[in-house]
Amino acid sequence: MTAVPISTCSRPTDPRNAREPSPVRRPRLLVAVCVGLIALSFGSCRGGISEKPPIHPVLDMDFQPKVKAQMASDFPGFADQRGMRTPPAGTLASDALGEAPLHVFKDAAGNYVSNPLPATRDDVLRGQERFNVYCSACHDRSGAGQGLVLQRARVSSPAAFNYLLPDLGAEPRLRDSADGYFYEVITQGKGTMPAYGHQIPVRDRWCIVHYLRVLQARFQ
Ligand code: HEC
Repeated sequence: MTAVPISTCSRPTDPRNAREPSPVRRPRLLVAVCVGLIALSFGSCRGGISEKPPIHPVLDMDFQPKVKAQMASDFPGFADQRGMRTPPAGTLASDALGEAPLHVFKDAAGNYVSNPLPATRDDVLRGQERFNVYCSACHDRSGAGQGLVLQRARVSSPAAFNYLLPDLGAEPRLRDSADGYFYEVITQGKGTMPAYGHQIPVRDRWCIVHYLRVLQARFQ
């Protein structure tokens, strides 16, 4: 076995080579710095929720004194501190202004009024047509409460069988109710019945009330 001289394995001893930086050392340093930075950045997001407000360089008009929906107000004039004020009695949507005199369904004493529209044949027929459009989906065309909405609900949920709508024609309590009450139910809804005030103009609501009386007349 021949001995290999050690000098053949060692690096060249030329002084110029020795001073030259190793070609692999610089990327190693770079990789180490990058790994360090990445580790640092991971260390800062631990999934925790910060208590501090987010950095918000462009303020626009985000911070200003104003009242948002459902917020309390400390305005001295609002004793109950409610930001959303109840409109004064008799307030009308601007698009209903032309119909203002017809929009009264309670008198000054708070009693429901009678239908201010005379029951002309045209208006009763108009009421029938509007009832069939807006109300029959739930109440059906006779007012008995077997509309398509209920029939379909029963297909998807047997529990809907237990849900009965009042029979608008036969129910004695409704036969005794004032015209203004029906107007109010149409306008504002009741219980699970949605409001139709935004879809049915004021005059048409009274036409429908006339038609409800026609449905009830069959049971008298
Ligand atoms: C989306 C279904 C639906 C439509 C459409 C609908 N109603 Fe109703 N209506 C109901 C329900 C549900 C009730 C029962 C409300 C309650 O007492 O919870 C009801 C109840 C009523 C009552 C009885 C209120 C009382 O005191 O018991 C009247 C009157 C009435 N509706 C009239 C109308 C008229 C008029 C229309 C058309 C403009 C109409 N409804 C459209 C679902 C509807």
